[in-house]
Amino acid sequence: MKMLSDHQKVVLIGDGAVGSAFAYAMVNQGLSEELVIINHTESKAIGDAMDLEDAIPNLSPLRIDAGDYSACKDADIVVLCAGAPQKDGETRLQLVTKNIKIVTDITKKVVETGFNGIFIVAANPVDVMAYAVLKQSGFPSEQVISSGTSLDTARLKVALAKRFNVDPQDINVNILGEHGDSEFAAYSSANISGIPLLSLISQKGINLQELFDIENQVRNKAYRIISKKGATYYGVATAIARIAKAILRDESAVLTVGCCLEGAYGYNDIYIGTPAVIGAGGIESIIELPLNVLEKNEMETSVTTLKKVISDALL
Ligand code: 2OP
Repeated sequence: MKMLSDHQKVVLIGDGAVGSAFAYAMVNQGLSEELVIINHTESKAIGDAMDLEDAIPNLSPLRIDAGDYSACKDADIVVLCAGAPQKDGETRLQLVTKNIKIVTDITKKVVETGFNGIFIVAANPVDVMAYAVLKQSGFPSEQVISSGTSLDTARLKVALAKRFNVDPQDINVNILGEHGDSEFAAYSSANISGIPLLSLISQKGINLQELFDIENQVRNKAYRIISKKGATYYGVATAIARIAKAILRDESAVLTVGCCLEGAYGYNDIYIGTPAVIGAGGIESIIELPLNVLEKNEMETSVTTLKKVISDALL
């Protein structure tokens, strides 16, 4: 198991909209002692490091620099945000050809430094990119985590919190599967403060169709945000920071992330969004949620969709 260093260091690769929002979340939450930003256009990384360090006197101490790949050698976490972002009307899966080479090249350079920490992969399509990082790095799968359906799960909590008038943190629900168009809400295991969601809706006279409409709105939320402002970044950046925190604090926190399945849900060798226990070693264990028949079919659709993309990309 990977042990954390005394001086905790995170390297961010890819300082675009998502990467810089993640860096800001790191600095604001004081998550590590050191943050190094690597970017294709170095001046952007240097500018962001200069700008972000000005926030430090009003926050907790954190050393922040722009750097190169040599910074990865003794890092605890490398966060991979590099790659083309989703454009208006584009699906995440359409980014595969653009991003696979970028992500594979970066992984090779990171591993060559001797890095032996945890990769958090956030470049889209995340499930496919995490698979590419796993294969290229040769790391054990617990050391390669994708942001998976962490953001989608947060979005579902936001939507249900509005409908049920409760704090989103009191809602236990997961979006599982692909981070993309075939993702699905595991409503059969959802509860609000211990009361099964499916019982709660009958108590409140809410139609099941309304839950499916909410699920659909969540599935399409990225498209709606991108059509309004061109990109999404605060939500995903905060989800990545949450994963980083669970690793850096060795929390054994149960988070919905992208994990490589090795038997869970009956599948192997594929990255899928699922709850998992996250600590210093990365993915400590995958929590296999019980699924009803509909959810099992939806999981099958996600797995089949992603396996096809991976085999077409010759991974
Ligand atoms: C999102 O879901 C685009 O994957 C990004 O916001």
